[in-house]
Amino acid sequence: MYRSGLPPHQFMAKLSKYYGDVYCFYLGSQLLVILNSAQSVREAFQNQYLIDRPAFKLRTKNLEKGEGTHGRTEHGVVWSSGDPWRDQRRFTLSTFRSLGVGKRSFEEQISVEARALCEEISAFKGESFNPRKLLANAVSNIICAVIFGKRFEYSDTTFHELLVLLDRTLEIAGSGSAEVLIPILRYFNLASATEKEIYSISHQLKKYIRHMIDNHQDQFDPTDLRDYIDVYLNEIKQTEANGLSSHITVNNLQATILQIFAAGSETTNTTIRWALLYMIAHPDIQRKVQHEIDNVVGRNRLPKLCDKEHMPYTEATLMEVQRIVSIVPVGVPHCAAEDTTLHGYNIPKNGIIISNIWAIHHDPLVWDAPDIFRPERFLDGDGLGSQPDEYIPFSAGRRVCLGENLAKMELFLFFSHLLHRFTFKKPQDSMLCFDGIIGATNAPPQLLYRSYFAGLIIKLLKNIIMQLLYIPNA
Ligand code: HEM
Repeated sequence: MYRSGLPPHQFMAKLSKYYGDVYCFYLGSQLLVILNSAQSVREAFQNQYLIDRPAFKLRTKNLEKGEGTHGRTEHGVVWSSGDPWRDQRRFTLSTFRSLGVGKRSFEEQISVEARALCEEISAFKGESFNPRKLLANAVSNIICAVIFGKRFEYSDTTFHELLVLLDRTLEIAGSGSAEVLIPILRYFNLASATEKEIYSISHQLKKYIRHMIDNHQDQFDPTDLRDYIDVYLNEIKQTEANGLSSHITVNNLQATILQIFAAGSETTNTTIRWALLYMIAHPDIQRKVQHEIDNVVGRNRLPKLCDKEHMPYTEATLMEVQRIVSIVPVGVPHCAAEDTTLHGYNIPKNGIIISNIWAIHHDPLVWDAPDIFRPERFLDGDGLGSQPDEYIPFSAGRRVCLGENLAKMELFLFFSHLLHRFTFKKPQDSMLCFDGIIGATNAPPQLLYRSYFAGLIIKLLKNIIMQLLYIPNA
């Protein structure tokens, strides 16, 4: 065991210096295989036996008992394996395509949201503000457009309630709770108050989503499929009419919607907040991005997706944010469905595979001075975009992020709209802090410390607590 004062992704990266890109250890009786290179992640996640998810149903069932669930645990697209996963992933991807998600036709939805966000920010009239809630509103509204077929006004009370629940979930997920960080701890019946709260909130969210599904069922018109729920309900009806059985069920629809909200809003919102933090810390880079926006877009119109190919520096800046921060530092765990081999090692059935994306993005053999924020590393000698194979913020292989195209569109449009309209600065007498809050994602710290002195004290205390929390050397 260790006393390192390092968060787990950094500690696991350190171990790879001694044990190589691929190594394993046991946590209790559970084998964990840690992948620290892009090559091993690609090889593993192309292997058909290494794309399942670990089964966490024991704890989930216990916690959900008595909460009025339907007696079955449906895993949706994120936590399912085998045929249920294949059916739902295929269906969700083709529905996204048919609704135009991630394509240019969807651009207007995101631009509307980016404009609304800029209006909200301009209402602060240059005063300092916390962008967290505003960005959560904007990004969640994109998912609402896909799933519910409509955006909500920020003043809408139903939307507000939904956001409060989502925000609390994300706050907990970002709080560094051990179960969130190392999900296999859920195997052991060590229910923390945090996790119980997550289940209670997820129950309320499910109730809300079920209500939306019921509304869609009442208004269902097969000749007018407006959104993800309509297309899903249509598929269920067709399957039933043909007397076929399928994993496309109302319970899975409910679980998948919740997961798309969780997977799609926190990640994107967090990336944009980090991007703003890095722009504040590097005013020269912020100016370069704005200069490029002014050259390509000008002052008489707003940025569009077709501008992206002419804005390599802006794109490189976003890529550098995603690299240095590694929003999902240890990916989402995979599980071996059968005994198999990887990189010449035997991987037994049920072994859990962790992709250490942070380690891959910080490997000094690949990235020169990896801790330095330098967008130029994503540009070639002619100033054009270049993407190294070792850049995998969305993971790789058969289970690669399902929302990658949508996320890239959102990041470009939100970031370019924001920097087209505003210059971001830190409040006077405050200190920037780059210590990410490691939970399900690597989130930027909430506070800009109001004074250098308070900032230093808090940092010192935090380091001491980190040292005490990590398990001492045996
Ligand atoms: C910057 C934004 C995002 C990042 C960095 C990100 C990253 C990731 C990563 C690392 C995974 C794990 C892949 C694996 O298991 O190997 C993942 C999975 C997933 N993401 Fe994203 N994601 C982002 C945005 C989104 C958005 C906008 C959506 C919603 C449409 C989304 C939906 C999903 C889903 C559904 C999965 C599970 C896929 C499966 O299990 O087959 N993500 N994402």
